[in-house]
Amino acid sequence: MTTDIVRIRQNWAHAVAAKEIVGRLFYEHLFRIAPQTRPMFPDTLDEQGRKLVQTLSWIVDHLDQPDALGSGATDLARRHIGYGVLPEHYNAVGAALMATLQEGLGEAFTSDDHDAWLRVYSGLSQQMIAAAYSEAG
Ligand code: HEM
Repeated sequence: MTTDIVRIRQNWAHAVAAKEIVGRLFYEHLFRIAPQTRPMFPDTLDEQGRKLVQTLSWIVDHLDQPDALGSGATDLARRHIGYGVLPEHYNAVGAALMATLQEGLGEAFTSDDHDAWLRVYSGLSQQMIAAAYSEAG
């Protein structure tokens, strides 16, 4: 298992101990970073936050199983086309996730942790975008 996965699992185990807060912080940051995404979501975000945290937990659990991760992420990305999501939104979601971890974990979220999340999120989101939006996908 790579160091990135170990870091991510430690951070996530810590963060999900307060999963309601993670869900709330995530959408606060997303709508600050990319206000144009607010109308894409329902008015009430509790259920949405629960689904997001559940799916992020599934992703974190499967980081060392690239086949399962790839097919789960591809399905997720294809469903997102129907929600009106565009490739450029993925960067805003990544930034909101980092800001959530930063705020939620405070000093426990080190710059090495930040870099690990960024590497893994970038790889995963590129894979999702390629699967959902490329002509061949
Ligand atoms: C790795 C990245 C992402 C994860 C893990 C994720 C997770 C989820 C989950 C679990 C759902 C519930 C429905 C389903 O499973 O199909 C969902 C719905 C949704 N997501 Fe994402 N998402 C991601 C990226 C994005 C991006 C980039 C956007 C762009 C703003 C976005 C916007 C939405 C919207 C608008 C819905 C539907 C809300 C509704 O009408 O209920 N998501 N997402």
